[in-house]
Amino acid sequence: MTSLPQYALALIVFFGIEIGAFFLRRANVSRRFLHLAAVSVALFVGVKGSGFDDRFPILFATLEIVALFSSVLAVYSLLDAFLLRRPWDLQKGPLPALVRGLVLALSLIGTFIATLKVIFDIDPSTLVVSSTVLSAVLGLALQDVLKNVFAGVALQMEGTLHVGDWLRLDGQDARIVEMTWRSTSLQTNEGHRLIEPNSKISERKLTSFGTGRRAIAFGFHVSLGYETPPSEAKEVLLKAARGVEMAAADPAPQAFVHSYGESGILYELRVFTFHPESISAFRDQVLSRVWYEIQRTGVRIPYPTRDLHFFDQERSRPEKQREALEQNTEILAGIELFRMLDRDVLQRIAAGARRHYYDNQEVLFQEGEPGDSLFVIDRGKVAVSKYDPDDGDILRLAVLEKGSFFGEMSLLTGEPRSATVQAEGGCDVLVLTRQELQPVLAADPQIAEKLSKALAERSAATAAALAEPRSHLKQQSDDETSILSRIRDFFRLTI
Ligand code: CMP
Repeated sequence: MTSLPQYALALIVFFGIEIGAFFLRRANVSRRFLHLAAVSVALFVGVKGSGFDDRFPILFATLEIVALFSSVLAVYSLLDAFLLRRPWDLQKGPLPALVRGLVLALSLIGTFIATLKVIFDIDPSTLVVSSTVLSAVLGLALQDVLKNVFAGVALQMEGTLHVGDWLRLDGQDARIVEMTWRSTSLQTNEGHRLIEPNSKISERKLTSFGTGRRAIAFGFHVSLGYETPPSEAKEVLLKAARGVEMAAADPAPQAFVHSYGESGILYELRVFTFHPESISAFRDQVLSRVWYEIQRTGVRIPYPTRDLHFFDQERSRPEKQREALEQNTEILAGIELFRMLDRDVLQRIAAGARRHYYDNQEVLFQEGEPGDSLFVIDRGKVAVSKYDPDDGDILRLAVLEKGSFFGEMSLLTGEPRSATVQAEGGCDVLVLTRQELQPVLAADPQIAEKLSKALAERSAATAAALAEPRSHLKQQSDDETSILSRIRDFFRLTI
Protein backbone atom coordinates (compact mmCIF):
# COMPACT_ATOMS: atom_id res chain seq x y z
CA MET A 1 0.00 0.00 0.00
CA THR A 2 1.31 3.33 -0.97
CA SER A 3 0.96 5.80 1.83
CA LEU A 4 0.59 9.52 1.33
CA PRO A 5 3.93 10.36 2.96
CA GLN A 6 5.71 8.15 0.32
CA TYR A 7 4.26 10.27 -2.50
CA ALA A 8 5.22 13.32 -0.55
CA LEU A 9 8.71 11.89 -0.18
CA ALA A 10 8.88 11.33 -3.96
CA LEU A 11 7.78 14.92 -4.56
CA ILE A 12 10.32 16.21 -2.05
CA VAL A 13 13.08 14.24 -3.82
CA PHE A 14 11.98 15.50 -7.23
CA PHE A 15 11.68 19.17 -6.28
CA GLY A 16 14.76 19.01 -4.07
CA ILE A 17 16.91 17.87 -6.97
CA GLU A 18 15.24 20.25 -9.46
CA ILE A 19 15.65 23.28 -7.17
CA GLY A 20 19.29 22.29 -6.71
CA ALA A 21 19.65 22.05 -10.51
CA PHE A 22 18.06 25.50 -10.87
CA PHE A 23 20.60 27.08 -8.54
CA LEU A 24 23.44 25.28 -10.25
CA ARG A 25 22.39 26.46 -13.71
CA ARG A 26 25.41 28.75 -13.99
CA ALA A 27 27.87 26.17 -12.71
CA ASN A 28 29.52 23.80 -15.15
CA VAL A 29 27.25 20.91 -14.04
CA SER A 30 25.49 18.57 -16.47
CA ARG A 31 21.84 19.39 -15.78
CA ARG A 32 20.63 16.55 -18.01
CA PHE A 33 21.89 14.05 -15.43
CA LEU A 34 20.27 16.03 -12.61
CA HIS A 35 16.88 16.01 -14.38
CA LEU A 36 17.15 12.30 -15.13
CA ALA A 37 18.13 11.59 -11.54
CA ALA A 38 15.25 13.77 -10.23
CA VAL A 39 12.66 11.90 -12.31
CA SER A 40 14.01 8.36 -11.89
CA VAL A 41 14.82 8.59 -8.16
CA ALA A 42 11.46 10.26 -7.41
CA LEU A 43 9.62 7.55 -9.37
CA PHE A 44 11.60 4.84 -7.62
CA VAL A 45 10.83 6.30 -4.16
CA GLY A 46 7.18 6.75 -5.17
CA VAL A 47 6.52 3.22 -6.40
CA LYS A 48 8.75 1.21 -4.08
CA GLY A 49 6.61 -0.96 -1.82
CA SER A 50 3.43 0.10 -3.63
CA GLY A 51 2.81 -3.35 -5.08
CA PHE A 52 3.98 -2.11 -8.48
CA ASP A 53 7.38 -3.67 -7.84
CA ASP A 54 5.77 -7.09 -7.23
CA ARG A 55 3.47 -6.87 -10.23
CA PHE A 56 6.04 -5.56 -12.71
CA PRO A 57 9.41 -6.77 -11.36
CA ILE A 58 11.31 -6.24 -14.67
CA LEU A 59 9.98 -2.71 -15.07
CA PHE A 60 10.80 -1.96 -11.44
CA ALA A 61 14.34 -3.38 -11.77
CA THR A 62 14.87 -1.22 -14.88
CA LEU A 63 13.67 1.83 -12.96
CA GLU A 64 16.00 0.97 -10.11
CA ILE A 65 19.00 0.66 -12.50
CA VAL A 66 18.16 3.94 -14.23
CA ALA A 67 17.80 5.68 -10.85
CA LEU A 68 21.10 4.25 -9.66
CA PHE A 69 23.11 5.15 -12.78
CA SER A 70 21.56 8.60 -13.18
CA SER A 71 22.31 9.36 -9.51
CA VAL A 72 25.92 8.25 -9.98
CA LEU A 73 26.23 10.40 -13.11
CA ALA A 74 24.65 13.39 -11.33
CA VAL A 75 27.03 13.00 -8.36
CA TYR A 76 30.00 12.64 -10.76
CA SER A 77 28.90 15.77 -12.61
CA LEU A 78 28.89 17.73 -9.30
CA LEU A 79 32.24 16.23 -8.31
CA ASP A 80 33.68 17.12 -11.73
CA ALA A 81 32.52 20.74 -11.57
CA PHE A 82 33.53 21.48 -8.00
CA LEU A 83 36.54 19.23 -7.46
CA LEU A 84 38.16 17.72 -10.56
CA ARG A 85 38.04 20.75 -12.84
CA ARG A 86 39.48 23.11 -10.25
CA PRO A 87 43.02 24.16 -11.09
CA TRP A 88 44.71 22.62 -8.07
CA ASP A 89 48.10 23.25 -9.55
CA LEU A 90 48.07 26.77 -11.03
CA GLN A 91 51.04 26.02 -13.26
CA LYS A 92 49.57 22.89 -14.83
CA GLY A 93 45.89 23.93 -14.88
CA PRO A 94 42.98 21.56 -14.10
CA LEU A 95 43.31 17.77 -14.14
CA PRO A 96 43.61 16.37 -17.67
CA ALA A 97 40.35 15.23 -19.31
CA LEU A 98 41.69 11.68 -19.41
CA VAL A 99 42.04 11.48 -15.62
CA ARG A 100 38.55 12.85 -15.14
CA GLY A 101 37.30 10.28 -17.61
CA LEU A 102 39.05 7.58 -15.64
CA VAL A 103 37.23 8.64 -12.44
CA LEU A 104 33.92 8.46 -14.32
CA ALA A 105 34.73 5.02 -15.76
CA LEU A 106 35.65 3.67 -12.31
CA SER A 107 32.44 5.09 -10.82
CA LEU A 108 30.35 3.41 -13.53
CA ILE A 109 32.16 0.07 -13.13
CA GLY A 110 31.56 0.32 -9.34
CA THR A 111 27.87 1.01 -9.94
CA PHE A 112 27.67 -1.88 -12.37
CA ILE A 113 29.15 -4.27 -9.80
CA ALA A 114 26.79 -2.90 -7.12
CA THR A 115 23.85 -3.40 -9.50
CA LEU A 116 24.79 -7.04 -10.06
CA LYS A 117 25.02 -7.65 -6.35
CA VAL A 118 22.03 -5.65 -5.07
CA ILE A 119 19.52 -5.99 -7.88
CA PHE A 120 20.35 -9.32 -9.49
CA ASP A 121 22.02 -10.93 -6.47
CA ILE A 122 24.96 -12.10 -8.60
CA ASP A 123 28.38 -12.43 -6.98
CA PRO A 124 30.70 -10.35 -9.23
CA SER A 125 33.67 -12.69 -8.53
CA THR A 126 31.89 -15.57 -10.34
CA LEU A 127 31.55 -13.28 -13.32
CA VAL A 128 35.27 -12.54 -13.25
CA VAL A 129 36.22 -16.24 -13.22
CA SER A 130 33.73 -17.25 -15.89
CA SER A 131 34.83 -14.39 -18.14
CA THR A 132 38.56 -15.13 -18.10
CA VAL A 133 38.50 -16.63 -21.59
CA LEU A 134 36.28 -13.84 -22.82
CA SER A 135 38.60 -11.17 -21.39
CA ALA A 136 41.60 -12.83 -23.04
CA VAL A 137 39.82 -12.74 -26.38
CA LEU A 138 38.68 -9.16 -25.82
CA GLY A 139 42.15 -8.14 -24.61
CA LEU A 140 43.73 -9.42 -27.81
CA ALA A 141 41.14 -7.70 -29.96
CA LEU A 142 41.46 -4.43 -28.09
CA GLN A 143 45.24 -4.54 -27.84
CA ASP A 144 45.79 -1.48 -30.03
CA VAL A 145 43.00 0.53 -28.44
CA LEU A 146 44.32 -0.25 -24.96
CA LYS A 147 47.86 0.65 -26.00
CA ASN A 148 46.64 4.05 -27.14
CA VAL A 149 44.56 4.55 -24.01
CA PHE A 150 47.46 3.74 -21.69
CA ALA A 151 49.84 5.90 -23.73
CA GLY A 152 47.29 8.73 -23.57
CA VAL A 153 46.94 8.39 -19.79
CA ALA A 154 50.75 8.35 -19.41
CA LEU A 155 51.19 11.41 -21.66
CA GLN A 156 48.64 13.42 -19.74
CA MET A 157 49.73 12.28 -16.29
CA GLU A 158 53.38 13.12 -17.02
CA GLY A 159 52.27 16.58 -18.12
CA THR A 160 55.05 16.84 -20.73
CA LEU A 161 52.62 17.65 -23.54
CA HIS A 162 49.68 20.03 -23.32
CA VAL A 163 47.01 21.35 -25.62
CA GLY A 164 48.53 24.46 -27.24
CA ASP A 165 52.10 23.11 -27.37
CA TRP A 166 54.00 23.34 -30.66
CA LEU A 167 55.69 20.11 -31.73
CA ARG A 168 58.08 19.11 -34.48
CA LEU A 169 56.99 15.69 -35.67
CA ASP A 170 58.84 14.07 -38.56
CA GLY A 171 60.09 17.49 -39.65
CA GLN A 172 56.63 19.04 -39.58
CA ASP A 173 55.66 21.76 -37.09
CA ALA A 174 52.17 21.58 -35.64
CA ARG A 175 50.20 22.66 -32.56
CA ILE A 176 48.33 20.23 -30.29
CA VAL A 177 44.64 21.08 -30.51
CA GLU A 178 43.11 18.08 -28.72
CA MET A 179 44.22 15.11 -26.63
CA THR A 180 41.74 12.30 -26.23
CA TRP A 181 41.80 8.73 -24.90
CA ARG A 182 42.90 7.37 -28.22
CA SER A 183 44.69 10.05 -30.17
CA THR A 184 46.32 13.47 -30.23
CA SER A 185 45.16 15.98 -32.86
CA LEU A 186 47.58 18.54 -34.20
CA GLN A 187 47.17 21.42 -36.61
CA THR A 188 49.87 22.80 -38.88
CA ASN A 189 50.22 26.44 -39.91
CA GLU A 190 48.81 25.44 -43.29
CA GLY A 191 45.63 24.29 -41.53
CA HIS A 192 46.33 20.57 -42.01
CA ARG A 193 45.02 18.31 -39.26
CA LEU A 194 47.31 15.48 -38.13
CA ILE A 195 45.70 12.82 -35.99
CA GLU A 196 48.31 10.69 -34.29
CA PRO A 197 47.48 7.63 -32.14
CA ASN A 198 48.78 8.26 -28.61
CA SER A 199 50.99 5.16 -28.70
CA LYS A 200 52.77 6.54 -31.80
CA ILE A 201 53.26 9.92 -30.10
CA SER A 202 54.86 8.39 -27.03
CA GLU A 203 57.12 6.10 -29.12
CA ARG A 204 58.27 8.81 -31.53
CA LYS A 205 61.21 11.14 -31.05
CA LEU A 206 59.61 14.55 -31.12
CA THR A 207 60.63 18.09 -30.23
CA SER A 208 58.36 20.26 -28.13
CA PHE A 209 58.69 24.04 -28.54
CA GLY A 210 56.16 24.78 -25.77
CA THR A 211 53.44 27.40 -26.07
CA GLY A 212 55.63 30.48 -26.37
CA ARG A 213 55.72 31.33 -22.67
CA ARG A 214 59.36 30.21 -22.52
CA ALA A 215 61.99 31.43 -25.01
CA ILE A 216 63.33 28.76 -27.35
CA ALA A 217 66.35 29.04 -29.63
CA PHE A 218 66.82 28.16 -33.27
CA GLY A 219 70.22 27.77 -34.92
CA PHE A 220 71.07 29.28 -38.31
CA HIS A 221 74.14 28.40 -40.31
CA VAL A 222 75.82 31.17 -42.27
CA SER A 223 79.04 30.86 -44.24
CA LEU A 224 81.25 33.95 -44.47
CA GLY A 225 84.54 34.61 -46.26
CA TYR A 226 87.88 33.55 -44.77
CA GLU A 227 89.17 37.13 -45.00
CA THR A 228 86.74 38.33 -42.29
CA PRO A 229 88.09 37.78 -38.76
CA PRO A 230 85.68 35.62 -36.71
CA SER A 231 85.21 38.32 -34.07
CA GLU A 232 84.04 40.78 -36.73
CA ALA A 233 81.87 38.19 -38.47
CA LYS A 234 80.21 37.21 -35.18
CA GLU A 235 79.56 40.87 -34.36
CA VAL A 236 77.87 41.37 -37.74
CA LEU A 237 75.67 38.28 -37.21
CA LEU A 238 74.76 39.32 -33.68
CA LYS A 239 73.88 42.83 -34.79
CA ALA A 240 71.59 41.39 -37.46
CA ALA A 241 69.92 39.06 -34.93
CA ARG A 242 69.42 41.84 -32.39
CA GLY A 243 67.43 43.81 -34.98
CA VAL A 244 64.95 40.98 -35.62
CA GLU A 245 61.50 41.89 -34.36
CA MET A 246 60.56 38.37 -33.28
CA ALA A 247 63.89 37.72 -31.52
CA ALA A 248 63.87 37.69 -27.71
CA ALA A 249 66.18 40.25 -26.08
CA ASP A 250 66.80 37.90 -23.18
CA PRO A 251 68.43 35.39 -23.64
CA ALA A 252 70.50 37.39 -26.10
CA PRO A 253 71.52 35.92 -29.48
CA GLN A 254 74.75 33.91 -29.60
CA ALA A 255 77.23 33.33 -32.44
CA PHE A 256 79.79 30.54 -32.79
CA VAL A 257 82.33 29.43 -35.35
CA HIS A 258 80.95 26.06 -36.43
CA SER A 259 83.58 24.75 -38.85
CA TYR A 260 85.94 25.65 -41.66
CA GLY A 261 84.23 24.94 -44.96
CA GLU A 262 85.61 24.67 -48.47
CA SER A 263 84.76 28.20 -49.46
CA GLY A 264 84.20 29.96 -46.16
CA ILE A 265 83.97 29.80 -42.38
CA LEU A 266 80.67 28.33 -41.23
CA TYR A 267 79.07 30.17 -38.31
CA GLU A 268 76.16 29.12 -36.15
CA LEU A 269 73.88 31.93 -35.10
CA ARG A 270 71.57 31.00 -32.21
CA VAL A 271 68.57 33.28 -31.76
CA PHE A 272 65.84 32.96 -29.11
CA THR A 273 62.18 33.69 -29.70
CA PHE A 274 58.81 33.56 -27.95
CA HIS A 275 57.05 32.72 -31.24
CA PRO A 276 57.04 28.96 -31.82
CA GLU A 277 53.90 29.48 -33.91
CA SER A 278 55.79 31.44 -36.59
CA ILE A 279 59.01 29.52 -37.08
CA SER A 280 59.08 30.07 -40.85
CA ALA A 281 58.51 33.82 -40.50
CA PHE A 282 61.12 33.98 -37.74
CA ARG A 283 63.67 32.12 -39.87
CA ASP A 284 62.88 34.45 -42.75
CA GLN A 285 63.39 37.55 -40.58
CA VAL A 286 66.73 36.35 -39.19
CA LEU A 287 68.22 35.21 -42.50
CA SER A 288 67.00 38.30 -44.38
CA ARG A 289 68.46 40.59 -41.73
CA VAL A 290 71.76 38.76 -41.91
CA TRP A 291 71.91 39.39 -45.67
CA TYR A 292 71.25 43.13 -45.31
CA GLU A 293 73.72 43.52 -42.46
CA ILE A 294 76.38 41.65 -44.41
CA GLN A 295 75.86 43.83 -47.47
CA ARG A 296 76.20 47.00 -45.42
CA THR A 297 79.40 45.93 -43.70
CA GLY A 298 80.96 44.57 -46.90
CA VAL A 299 81.57 41.08 -45.50
CA ARG A 300 81.52 38.48 -48.26
CA ILE A 301 79.13 35.52 -48.40
CA PRO A 302 80.99 32.84 -50.34
CA TYR A 303 78.91 31.43 -53.16
CA PRO A 304 77.96 27.82 -52.63
CA THR A 305 79.17 27.15 -56.18
CA ARG A 306 82.89 26.57 -56.48
CA ASP A 307 84.85 29.54 -57.86
CA LEU A 308 87.97 28.47 -59.73
CA HIS A 309 90.55 31.25 -59.78
CA PHE A 310 93.50 30.86 -62.11
CA PHE A 311 96.09 33.35 -61.17
CA ASP A 312 99.75 33.97 -61.66
CA GLN A 313 101.11 33.83 -58.18
CA GLU A 314 104.24 35.77 -59.03
CA ARG A 315 102.27 38.58 -60.63
CA SER A 316 99.57 38.84 -58.02
CA ARG A 317 101.88 38.89 -55.00
CA PRO A 318 103.50 42.29 -55.62
CA GLU A 319 100.07 43.70 -56.37
CA LYS A 320 98.73 42.48 -53.07
CA GLN A 321 101.81 43.75 -51.26
CA ARG A 322 101.39 47.18 -52.84
CA GLU A 323 97.77 47.31 -51.72
CA ALA A 324 98.68 46.30 -48.16
CA LEU A 325 101.49 48.88 -48.08
CA GLU A 326 99.14 51.64 -49.22
CA GLN A 327 96.57 50.64 -46.65
CA ASN A 328 99.11 50.50 -43.79
CA THR A 329 100.61 53.86 -44.80
CA GLU A 330 97.13 55.41 -44.67
CA ILE A 331 96.54 53.97 -41.22
CA LEU A 332 99.86 55.26 -39.88
CA ALA A 333 99.27 58.68 -41.45
CA GLY A 334 96.09 58.94 -39.43
CA ILE A 335 97.93 58.40 -36.13
CA GLU A 336 98.80 61.50 -34.15
CA LEU A 337 102.23 60.10 -33.25
CA PHE A 338 103.41 59.99 -36.87
CA ARG A 339 101.58 63.07 -38.12
CA MET A 340 104.70 65.12 -38.86
CA LEU A 341 106.40 62.37 -40.89
CA ASP A 342 106.81 62.56 -44.65
CA ARG A 343 104.97 60.08 -46.82
CA ASP A 344 108.13 58.20 -47.84
CA VAL A 345 109.19 57.77 -44.17
CA LEU A 346 105.70 56.51 -43.35
CA GLN A 347 105.91 54.11 -46.26
CA ARG A 348 109.20 52.79 -44.95
CA ILE A 349 107.66 52.10 -41.54
CA ALA A 350 104.51 50.63 -43.13
CA ALA A 351 106.59 48.30 -45.29
CA GLY A 352 107.73 46.42 -42.20
CA ALA A 353 104.39 46.53 -40.40
CA ARG A 354 102.47 43.31 -39.99
CA ARG A 355 98.71 43.09 -39.49
CA HIS A 356 97.56 40.83 -36.66
CA TYR A 357 93.99 39.84 -35.83
CA TYR A 358 92.86 39.10 -32.27
CA ASP A 359 89.67 37.50 -31.01
CA ASN A 360 87.52 38.83 -28.17
CA GLN A 361 89.34 38.47 -24.80
CA GLU A 362 92.55 37.27 -26.46
CA VAL A 363 95.66 38.44 -24.63
CA LEU A 364 98.06 40.32 -26.96
CA PHE A 365 100.82 40.16 -24.36
CA GLN A 366 101.21 39.71 -20.63
CA GLU A 367 102.76 42.09 -18.13
CA GLY A 368 106.40 41.10 -17.53
CA GLU A 369 106.96 39.51 -20.97
CA PRO A 370 109.86 40.80 -23.04
CA GLY A 371 108.77 42.89 -26.01
CA ASP A 372 110.22 45.03 -28.77
CA SER A 373 107.25 46.10 -30.86
CA LEU A 374 104.80 48.96 -31.05
CA PHE A 375 101.13 48.23 -31.74
CA VAL A 376 98.75 50.54 -33.60
CA ILE A 377 95.02 49.75 -33.36
CA ASP A 378 93.23 49.70 -36.71
CA ARG A 379 89.92 48.12 -35.57
CA GLY A 380 88.26 47.45 -32.22
CA LYS A 381 89.71 48.18 -28.79
CA VAL A 382 92.00 46.75 -26.14
CA ALA A 383 92.05 46.92 -22.35
CA VAL A 384 95.30 47.69 -20.52
CA SER A 385 95.56 46.19 -17.03
CA LYS A 386 98.24 45.75 -14.41
CA TYR A 387 98.78 43.61 -11.34
CA ASP A 388 98.65 45.67 -8.14
CA PRO A 389 101.08 44.00 -5.70
CA ASP A 390 99.64 45.95 -2.72
CA ASP A 391 96.21 44.36 -2.73
CA GLY A 392 96.76 41.52 -5.21
CA ASP A 393 94.09 42.88 -7.57
CA ILE A 394 94.21 43.42 -11.33
CA LEU A 395 93.96 47.16 -12.01
CA ARG A 396 92.27 48.25 -15.23
CA LEU A 397 94.35 51.18 -16.45
CA ALA A 398 92.81 52.16 -19.75
CA VAL A 399 90.83 51.12 -22.79
CA LEU A 400 92.56 52.11 -26.04
CA GLU A 401 90.60 52.44 -29.27
CA LYS A 402 91.21 52.64 -33.03
CA GLY A 403 94.06 55.06 -33.80
CA SER A 404 95.82 54.58 -30.42
CA PHE A 405 99.19 52.92 -29.99
CA PHE A 406 100.66 50.85 -27.16
CA GLY A 407 103.76 48.84 -26.36
CA GLU A 408 105.97 51.94 -26.66
CA MET A 409 107.47 51.42 -23.18
CA SER A 410 109.19 48.09 -23.89
CA LEU A 411 109.97 49.11 -27.43
CA LEU A 412 111.74 52.27 -26.34
CA THR A 413 113.35 51.26 -23.07
CA GLY A 414 113.93 47.54 -23.57
CA GLU A 415 112.19 46.82 -20.29
CA PRO A 416 109.60 44.03 -19.94
CA ARG A 417 105.99 44.87 -20.74
CA SER A 418 104.65 47.10 -17.99
CA ALA A 419 101.04 45.92 -18.37
CA THR A 420 98.84 43.22 -19.89
CA VAL A 421 96.92 44.08 -23.04
CA GLN A 422 93.76 42.16 -23.94
CA ALA A 423 91.33 42.50 -26.85
CA GLU A 424 87.84 43.75 -26.00
CA GLY A 425 85.72 42.39 -28.81
CA GLY A 426 87.80 41.45 -31.83
CA CYS A 427 90.57 43.82 -32.91
CA ASP A 428 93.09 44.29 -35.73
CA VAL A 429 96.48 45.87 -35.03
CA LEU A 430 99.56 46.85 -36.99
CA VAL A 431 102.75 45.64 -35.34
CA LEU A 432 105.92 47.72 -35.82
CA THR A 433 109.20 46.27 -34.63
CA ARG A 434 112.21 48.10 -33.27
CA GLN A 435 114.04 47.38 -36.52
CA GLU A 436 111.63 49.53 -38.54
CA LEU A 437 111.47 52.31 -36.01
CA GLN A 438 115.17 52.68 -35.21
CA PRO A 439 116.08 54.70 -38.36
CA VAL A 440 112.97 56.85 -38.00
CA LEU A 441 113.76 57.71 -34.39
CA ALA A 442 117.32 58.46 -35.33
CA ALA A 443 116.21 60.78 -38.13
CA ASP A 444 113.45 62.62 -36.32
CA PRO A 445 113.96 63.69 -32.68
CA GLN A 446 110.35 64.84 -32.43
CA ILE A 447 109.05 61.26 -32.52
CA ALA A 448 111.30 60.15 -29.66
CA GLU A 449 110.11 63.18 -27.68
CA LYS A 450 106.45 62.51 -28.45
CA LEU A 451 106.81 58.87 -27.52
CA SER A 452 108.61 59.68 -24.31
CA LYS A 453 105.90 62.22 -23.44
CA ALA A 454 103.17 59.61 -23.97
CA LEU A 455 105.24 57.11 -22.08
CA ALA A 456 105.75 59.49 -19.14
CA GLU A 457 102.07 60.42 -19.04
CA ARG A 458 101.05 56.79 -19.04
CA SER A 459 103.53 55.80 -16.34
CA ALA A 460 102.29 58.73 -14.24
CA ALA A 461 98.70 57.61 -14.75
CA THR A 462 99.67 54.05 -13.85
CA ALA A 463 101.48 55.24 -10.73
CA ALA A 464 98.45 57.32 -9.72
CA ALA A 465 96.18 54.31 -10.29
CA LEU A 466 98.46 52.21 -8.12
CA ALA A 467 98.10 55.03 -5.52
CA GLU A 468 101.82 55.67 -5.26
CA PRO A 469 102.41 58.91 -3.34
CA ARG A 470 104.13 61.35 -5.69
CA SER A 471 104.06 64.97 -6.73
CA HIS A 472 102.33 64.28 -10.03
CA LEU A 473 103.47 67.06 -12.39
CA LYS A 474 107.05 67.40 -11.24
CA GLN A 475 107.44 63.66 -11.29
CA GLN A 476 106.06 63.56 -14.83
CA SER A 477 108.60 66.06 -16.22
CA ASP A 478 111.39 64.24 -14.35
CA ASP A 479 110.09 61.05 -15.92
CA GLU A 480 110.05 62.56 -19.39
CA THR A 481 113.67 63.76 -19.08
CA SER A 482 114.94 60.50 -17.68
CA ILE A 483 112.91 58.41 -20.12
CA LEU A 484 114.15 60.45 -23.05
CA SER A 485 117.75 59.90 -22.01
CA ARG A 486 117.04 56.17 -21.54
CA ILE A 487 115.54 56.01 -25.01
CA ARG A 488 118.54 57.80 -26.44
CA ASP A 489 120.89 55.35 -24.70
CA PHE A 490 118.86 52.38 -25.76
CA PHE A 491 118.67 53.39 -29.41
CA ARG A 492 122.14 54.93 -29.32
CA LEU A 493 120.77 58.19 -30.65
CA THR A 494 123.16 61.10 -30.96
CA ILE A 495 120.49 63.82 -30.87
P1 CMP B 1 104.58 48.32 -22.64
O1 CMP B 1 105.10 48.46 -21.25
O2 CMP B 1 105.54 47.99 -23.72
O3 CMP B 1 103.42 47.23 -22.61
C1 CMP B 1 102.23 47.56 -21.93
C2 CMP B 1 101.66 48.80 -22.57
O4 CMP B 1 100.51 49.33 -21.99
C3 CMP B 1 102.65 49.93 -22.33
O5 CMP B 1 103.82 49.67 -23.05
C4 CMP B 1 101.83 51.11 -22.73
O6 CMP B 1 101.79 51.27 -24.10
C5 CMP B 1 100.48 50.71 -22.25
N1 CMP B 1 100.18 51.38 -20.94
C6 CMP B 1 100.77 51.20 -19.76
N2 CMP B 1 100.22 51.98 -18.81
C7 CMP B 1 99.21 52.63 -19.41
C8 CMP B 1 98.23 53.57 -18.98
N3 CMP B 1 98.17 54.00 -17.72
N4 CMP B 1 97.35 54.05 -19.90
C9 CMP B 1 97.39 53.62 -21.18
N5 CMP B 1 98.29 52.73 -21.64
C10 CMP B 1 99.18 52.23 -20.78
